[in-house]
Amino acid sequence: MVSSDSGKSRGMRLDAYLARAGLASRREARGLIRRGAVQVDGDVCRDSARRIDGERVVVEDQAVESPEAVRDFILHKPVGASCSRDDREAPLVFDLLSGTLSRRSLLIAGRLDRATSGLLILTTDGDLVHRLTHPGRKLPKRYRIEFEGELAASAVERCREGLLLTGEDRPTRPAELEIAAAGQATLILREGRNRQVRRMIRLLGGEVVSLHRDRIGALDLPADLEPGELRPLERDERALLVSDRSL
Ligand code: URA
Repeated sequence: MVSSDSGKSRGMRLDAYLARAGLASRREARGLIRRGAVQVDGDVCRDSARRIDGERVVVEDQAVESPEAVRDFILHKPVGASCSRDDREAPLVFDLLSGTLSRRSLLIAGRLDRATSGLLILTTDGDLVHRLTHPGRKLPKRYRIEFEGELAASAVERCREGLLLTGEDRPTRPAELEIAAAGQATLILREGRNRQVRRMIRLLGGEVVSLHRDRIGALDLPADLEPGELRPLERDERALLVSDRSL
């Protein structure tokens, strides 16, 4: 196996190996390693920098699938599908996967609520999830909104300054609201709180009637991907996704 993190030595660091295999973020992987939860070829290994090059890695008695099997997918989430893993919440976005893809190994990088459509990334790579969702990275995500009601005249400015959402003690990060026409707006967020767009619009006097995410980082939802369609993420798309190039 060729190293993906330095290219100089053979194999891949153990913490990167676990993250790439979708087990955890790299930091969480280091925690598992420190705790003695990780074995390499039958021996507990507490060294995150240990290079893995074909050895058998086991975490808490579960063999870890080689990160070479890592896969990323792009999905046009349709309205109505839930990002939950709980079958009682069906229909689930995981129901859109073909039988060969294990839903257990796939993580959702930045969920959308059931009534929201748009760009969703599914991956086995815990590092990618971290890069797309960690608030410290401030990765922009763009939402197209249709709303009812009248937004406050100061709405754009208030979004830029941050809003204190009901039940929270920290204002939202600066967000860019653009009102395109009556009842239509776009909002660019750099964090992902629960139902954040809907709650922000409500606080500003409107009610979201339709919500669609069409961009993450510098990656647009491809125009040819129909609602409910999923395909592997291409390498250049992955690069755009994690780009923090300003929108
Ligand atoms: N904000 C929402 O209100 N819902 C989403 O799904 C994403 C952002």
